[in-house]
Parts: sequence; structure tokens; C-alpha cells
Amino acid sequence: MTSPLLLPYDGPHLTLPNRIAMAPMTRGRADDVTGVPHPLTAEYYAQRAAAGLIVTEGIWPTVLGKGGPGIPGLVTDAQVDGWHAVTEGVHAAGGTIFAQLWHVGRMTHPLNLPDGAAPVAPSPVRIEGEPIYTNQGNLAHVTPRAMTTAEAEATIADFAAEARNAVRAGFDGVEVHGANGYLIQQFLAENTNRRTDRFGGSRAGRLRFALDVVEAVAAEIGPGRVGLRISPHNPENEIAEEDPQGTYRALVDAVDPLGLAYLHVIERGAYGALADLRPRWSGTLIGNFNGTEPTSQRAGEQVLAAGLADLFSYGRLFISNPDLPARFATGAPLNAHVPGLVYGGDAEGYTDYPALGDRVGSAVRSLS
Ligand SMILES: Cc1cc2nc3c(=O)[nH]c(=O)nc-3n(C[C@H](O)[C@H](O)[C@H](O)COP(=O)(O)O)c2cc1C
Repeated sequence: MTSPLLLPYDGPHLTLPNRIAMAPMTRGRADDVTGVPHPLTAEYYAQRAAAGLIVTEGIWPTVLGKGGPGIPGLVTDAQVDGWHAVTEGVHAAGGTIFAQLWHVGRMTHPLNLPDGAAPVAPSPVRIEGEPIYTNQGNLAHVTPRAMTTAEAEATIADFAAEARNAVRAGFDGVEVHGANGYLIQQFLAENTNRRTDRFGGSRAGRLRFALDVVEAVAAEIGPGRVGLRISPHNPENEIAEEDPQGTYRALVDAVDPLGLAYLHVIERGAYGALADLRPRWSGTLIGNFNGTEPTSQRAGEQVLAAGLADLFSYGRLFISNPDLPARFATGAPLNAHVPGLVYGGDAEGYTDYPALGDRVGSAVRSLS
């Protein structure tokens, strides 16, 4: 029986050869000064173009949203040109690619920002636990500076401008990163949003920034080219959501009528987001699990078979298996990724994982 992951998908805005998405993954290889993607980034994504849909690593809309060394931007002409080479490579290989729009909010450090600027966030709530990675190693977080209302509005405009640049760079669409404890989720969560202006104060206030970003981006490039990623109840990066069901039902109910390309839901925590939100979302839904081990083929198949999502995204398996759909189709063995080579560096651990047809790949196959 054909795996449900390998069936073609014909949705309202997406026509894809299979239901396997490549999940967004930061690789820290951009030029740290210019924010231009690494010259090998085009090859890296082109190697993975057999994914039904590629979502890029997070890309900043303003340098204040940059989370660490080697994270790319999509603001300057040089950055747009760098990404243009990436989209050309993926399109030449027959793929579809969305750019992830990512502002980290408080999840950064003055050493990662120009002129030692303080990180900005909805409220001055410092991360107490895990340190943050900088070019001087792991350091304790500083207390972020609360955005003024005008700064929040300017940041929404930055997201819209980034979406426009993404289209200039040839992307098929963009994904707004509303997950994993970064800026947008910092506005959504009770513990990180203590504002009293229109971007806080009540559930509707906490939702306002996310909704304004999505609406501004959709107005800029058309809703059919916009996805939204969320991770309800994900405690990562010291997020504490008191009422995930109330928050995310309200968010999804407000976003659904916009007619976006998709909703991308990371299932994590006790809430059971996919089952709860699926009936409320009328468009394409992408599922993702975020556990300690890379998610298995079987787990994605079960989600699709249960009707909880239309597509399923894989992260870590795509780091080390550029031809993941072919491996799922044939049951070929999977390469494991080398954890020390995930972030930063050059080709090693980036573009040198073998596909099945490659010399090393054939050797693996003949052994199996
Ligand atoms: C190295 C790495 C970098 C990641 N970077 C991002 C990112 O930039 N944006 C994002 O939304 N999620 C990011 N994630 C989360 C993945 O998109 C995905 O949710 C997670 O890896 C779980 O899927 P998996 O079990 O298939 O790996 C990252 C994960 C990894 C392993």
C-alpha cells in the first residue's frame, strides 16, 4: 500500500507531488556581517527539492530580529539576490519553496545585534534558564526592552516588507513563524506579554500582533502565498501558556477566513493541538511533531491516516537524507545526522550527505 505521505496533494493554493514538507531549520551558515545566505545554500535546498514543499530556515525581517551568528536576513538587495539563487536552484529541480519569516524577540543577545542593541520583546521579561548562543559562546540572557506601540507597528511593517522581498527573490510563498517561543508567541503567551496597550491586556490584545502580522503579510503578497506556523502549549524558550485552547482556537478562528496557503502546527505539550484545531481550519494543514528523537515516517503516516493533517513536515531526517521521499518510498536505510555539524561551517554536514544514487548511497544500499 502506498504511504499516504507519498500521495500527491491538490489543495486550494498548493499542488504538490507528495505530502512531505521539509520543516524550517536554522543552519547558521549565512555571512554573519552581511546576512547573505551561504553560497552552498542553493545547493543544499536544491538537493532537497523532492520534498513536496520546502520551508526555509528562519530569516529575519529586521536585524533586531536576528537570533544568533550566521542567521540570514531578507532585507537588503544582496540578501534578496542570495535567496534568488536558492529559489532558482529549487525551481530548476522541480521543487516548491516558502521562506520562513522569523523575528526572535527576546531570544537573542546584544552580541548578536548591531551596536550591542538590547533585544526587543513585548515586555521586559528575561529568560532565566538556558543561556543564549553568541559569537563569544553561550551567555546568560539580558532583560529585553519592551517595544513601544510604534515599534510593534513598525515590526509588523517589517514582516510585510520581508514578504515582498521574498516574492522578489522568487519564493513561492512565505511562512510566518509564530511558534517556539519567538516574538509572535511572546505576544501570544500570558507570561511574556504584560502589555497594557492594544497589543496586550486581554486575549484579544495578545492575539493582535500575530493577527496584524498575518494580515499585513497577506495584504502584501496575497493570502494564498502565506502560511502560519504555531506551536500551541510549547514550553520551549520559557513560554507558559495558561489557556492554550482558548488562545489558539481564537487565533485559528480569526485567521481561517483569510484563506491562507496553510496552517503549520507543531504538536508539543499536553494540549493536543492537531486534534483540537483541525476541525476549525478549512484550509491546508501541515502537522509536525517536535520530540527528542527525529520524527519517524510512521508517525507522519499515522497523522495523515487519522485525517489530522494534509501534509506532514520533517526536520532532522532532512538534514541527513536529502532524498527523504525516495527513502520513504523504498524503505531504504536512513542516514543519521552528525549533531556537531548542524550549525555553522561549510559543506561538511550540510551538502555532503549522500542521496541513494550517489556513490556512498549505492554502497549503503548494496549492503542492506
Ligand atoms: C537544527 C534545527 C533548526 C531548527 N530551526 C527552526 C527554525 O528556524 N524555524 C522553525 O520554525 N523551527 C525550527 N526547528 C524545528 C523544526 O522545524 C521541527 O519542528 C523539529 O525539528 C521537529 O521535527 P523533526 O522531529 O522532524 O526534526 C529547527 C529544528 C532543528 C533540528
